[in-house]
Amino acid sequence: MTAKRPSIIAIDGPAASGKSTLGLSLAKELGYLFFDTGVMYRAVTWLALKFDMDLSDETKVTELAETTQIDVAPASKSDGRACDVLIAGNDITWETRLPEVDANVSVVSAYRGVRAALSKQQRRIGQRGNVVMVGRDIGTVVLPEADLKIYLDATAEQRAKRRYDEITARGGTADYDEILAKVIERDHIDSTRDVAPLKAAEDAVALDSDQLNADEVFEQVMKLIK
Ligand code: CDP
Repeated sequence: MTAKRPSIIAIDGPAASGKSTLGLSLAKELGYLFFDTGVMYRAVTWLALKFDMDLSDETKVTELAETTQIDVAPASKSDGRACDVLIAGNDITWETRLPEVDANVSVVSAYRGVRAALSKQQRRIGQRGNVVMVGRDIGTVVLPEADLKIYLDATAEQRAKRRYDEITARGGTADYDEILAKVIERDHIDSTRDVAPLKAAEDAVALDSDQLNADEVFEQVMKLIK
């Protein structure tokens, strides 16, 4: 008898560890929905900055998260995006990748109310199954019932290099040392916050993407699935 294929796959790990690349390839291979939860935290952060909101005002930022309709849809363009991010029908996909969003998203995502509002939506989508969901707390909090949990890690230097390559490949300019410092700072905030900190679920399979390239990570996970 063949084992049942996992229907809910959770991938967690620190910034730029290759979660989205892995998640997208798995979703494509299995015909599943790819859902990158980080874009929701990024969308709220971008909107708060656009409204000139004081980001230390937890009540205001939480209200924004509770009342904003964020849609995440399969990529409509092949310009390097993993998915479309929409607020009230407006495409804000690339706005969510701006450096000011990177610099502030961890503060916003540490707020209990923001997490409650967004993880509720993530859970609703994840529970439908046939999904690869990517984030920081998917295996621990959002979908602890996931059939397969992966924790993807790599050294900060390797991850910063990847983020640097991503930006320059898109024609942007970047400073490696600055990216490295920001990656380390964001990981620190994400893993030390009180609510749903970044950590591997006890039943997660840990993979180190320093030792493996994207194809090898994918192959390893496909072996686990089979
Ligand atoms: O792409 P990258 O790995 O750099 O980050 P991301 O997955 O887009 O997530 C951006 C930020 O959102 C993270 O640094 C966390 O602060 C937050 N986040 C979170 O708290 N929980 C999630 N499930 C996903 C993201």
